[in-house]
Amino acid sequence: MAKISVIGTGYLGVTHAVCMAHLGHDVIALDTNAEKIAMLQSGQVPFHEPGLTELLEDTLKSGRLTFTTSFADVAANADIHFVCVGTPQQVDSNAANMSQVNSAVAQLAEHLASPAIVVGKSTVPVGTAQRLHSELVSKSPAGSGVHLVWNPEFLREGFAVQDTLHPDRIVLGVTSSEDAQRVADVYAAAIDEGTPVVVTDYATAELVKVAANAFLATKISFINAFADLADATGADITQLADAIGHDTRIGRRFLNAGVGFGGGCLPKDIRALQARATELGLADTFEFLTHIDAINQSRRDTIVERAVIALDGSLHGKTVTVLGAAFKPDSDDIRDSPALHIAQELADAGAIVKIHDPAALPVLSTKTHNLQLCEDLESAFDNSDLVLHLTEWKEYRALDPNALGDRVKSRIIIDGRNVLDRDLWSSAGWSISYLGRPGS
Ligand code: UDX
Repeated sequence: MAKISVIGTGYLGVTHAVCMAHLGHDVIALDTNAEKIAMLQSGQVPFHEPGLTELLEDTLKSGRLTFTTSFADVAANADIHFVCVGTPQQVDSNAANMSQVNSAVAQLAEHLASPAIVVGKSTVPVGTAQRLHSELVSKSPAGSGVHLVWNPEFLREGFAVQDTLHPDRIVLGVTSSEDAQRVADVYAAAIDEGTPVVVTDYATAELVKVAANAFLATKISFINAFADLADATGADITQLADAIGHDTRIGRRFLNAGVGFGGGCLPKDIRALQARATELGLADTFEFLTHIDAINQSRRDTIVERAVIALDGSLHGKTVTVLGAAFKPDSDDIRDSPALHIAQELADAGAIVKIHDPAALPVLSTKTHNLQLCEDLESAFDNSDLVLHLTEWKEYRALDPNALGDRVKSRIIIDGRNVLDRDLWSSAGWSISYLGRPGS
């Protein structure tokens, strides 16, 4: 078993540290935020992720997982260092903000006095690994004894533990097959299960990640563009997706039309990719990503426009119930969330917005001022003129439209995720409409 460190305890870092300790490795995890480290040390995960708290508790008890804020500690206790810090979008451009990666690698390098492998997992612009490799060699006391491997991460929020323990593939960008073998040994359990390993160069490894996310984003905007066409022609987008999805070259997954994609990855990754492609002289070729982004953003406007129409042209004084705040179910992540964006737009335009989410309300309470946060799902419907279903938590599919009908002022619901049962809601006297399905 390996002695590893994980630098950065965000979504990726915490999950990676806990899962690696669960597999039997000795793990020391670092964050510069002492409050976060104290929380993790006491067994609390700072975000909602199914199964992770239980696994954190187990691994803390095992003694294989420790936390620190000191780079000296990390260098002294591990010889494989996973860099898992965030690369958010820059405030004033589409490019990725690399300050956390640069700072983590620079601080780590200072303390690397003996041979070590640094493994980059953060999503970075192509060319970063080559630069970091040179910096590690020039700034570390161990010099060329420090090697770099690029190992992008593909975990999905809500399935983070499963995706880390049983990944679809392992990608290793390396400069030597020995380095590839040492990092592959950390993932021996997954490789023994048959997980494919792609050993390649740095640039390919970096690009695999952004190519995967750009492809997924394209699939979603593609189907959403057809949802508009379905609305214009009376076609049914769900049946269309099912039918093209039967073609195994296309596949049905990521063809769910609705309010579009959000979160901390897809939106910023397509923008950062376009920014990097532009730097490399490929602005025209990658222009299509502007359209993918624009189609996605327009989904949010579509729902707001539909809401105004459903409310007879005016939002003022009207009560709108919004089901969901997180960008996807089984997560409390509200970064670039379509649901929250729409709720905020409606509230800013004068509606009284009551918002429910099974997990994200505590996060919302510090970030919003003009939304009414509803802990209780049923009472979120009280006095409502319009209900919007915007994040597809399973709780919402189990709602009883008959009972809820007595709570609202008007039985009108717009399903922005195209998953609620039309017959169930219609037979309870609701007007239900969708994005891209007839009868909308
Ligand atoms: C994504 C990638 O899937 C993952 O591999 C990468 O490591 C990080 O980015 P995540 O951000 O957790 O993961 O969410 P994902 O499950 O990809 O969903 C992204 C968004 O697309 C969500 O807002 C979701 O609601 C939306 N979506 C997804 C659709 O609108 N339609 C679909 O068919 C699928």
